[in-house]
Amino acid sequence: MTDPSELDMKGDWNRRALENARYYIATPIDGTEQLFRSSGEHDVALFFDGLEQVLQPEATVVDIGAGVGRMDEFVAPRVRRLIGVDVSGEMVALARQRLAHLDNIEFREGDGWTLPGMDDGGIDVVFSHIVFQHMPRNVAASYFGEVVRVLAPGGHFVFQLPERVPGAPADPPESDTFEMRFYSEDELRDQLAGLGLDWVACRRFAVKSPALDFNQLRVHAQKPA
Ligand SMILES: C[S@@+](CC[C@H](N)C(=O)[O-])C[C@H]1O[C@@H](n2cnc3c(N)ncnc32)[C@H](O)[C@@H]1O
Repeated sequence: MTDPSELDMKGDWNRRALENARYYIATPIDGTEQLFRSSGEHDVALFFDGLEQVLQPEATVVDIGAGVGRMDEFVAPRVRRLIGVDVSGEMVALARQRLAHLDNIEFREGDGWTLPGMDDGGIDVVFSHIVFQHMPRNVAASYFGEVVRVLAPGGHFVFQLPERVPGAPADPPESDTFEMRFYSEDELRDQLAGLGLDWVACRRFAVKSPALDFNQLRVHAQKPA
């Protein structure tokens, strides 16, 4: 298992941010800023569908792998404070620029496997969307441990990962910071239980296009109160 400090997650994602941040985050290469913003609004609605109660006006929320704040723009108005963390300083710079008008958002550059500057037990909600799939499993596991550390009792963890089913692609090499890793519901359930999180629910969302055909798992777990 590769030591996370030996991976070039920062360099790789900084290069992607400088080359074409919107493309590497979510939209086709010719996607306009307007399309990009609508994709954020759409994805927030889908990601939190049925979990709207998690985003409370008093909540302090962390987004792991915030990118340029595509999701955060539509989450921040619903909560007290939002902290977006990203391994790429270039993504963080773009996010700060894009969302400078929202005064309850802060973006922090992290090392790629820990949550920077966060005390134990101070966060109400951690979410992460299309991020854990890009990192080796031990790096995602490090974040899961960090989530348990920073969440307040009763705090929520909501994240997505592509589902591993028979025939799903094998993991790419550990040094790869882009190709997807697939997870089964059972392995995630075991992993989170091992960290002391309560499993609340898992929902499947189909992803279908000429190039893609799989389910996204959206997991909702909770730190015991
Ligand atoms: C596909 S983008 C998704 C961004 C955002 N979550 C969204 O949905 O718009 C993946 C983001 O995760 C960040 N990322 C990749 N590996 C990371 C890591 N190890 N720690 C923190 N952020 C990471 C990348 O820099 C990039 O901004």
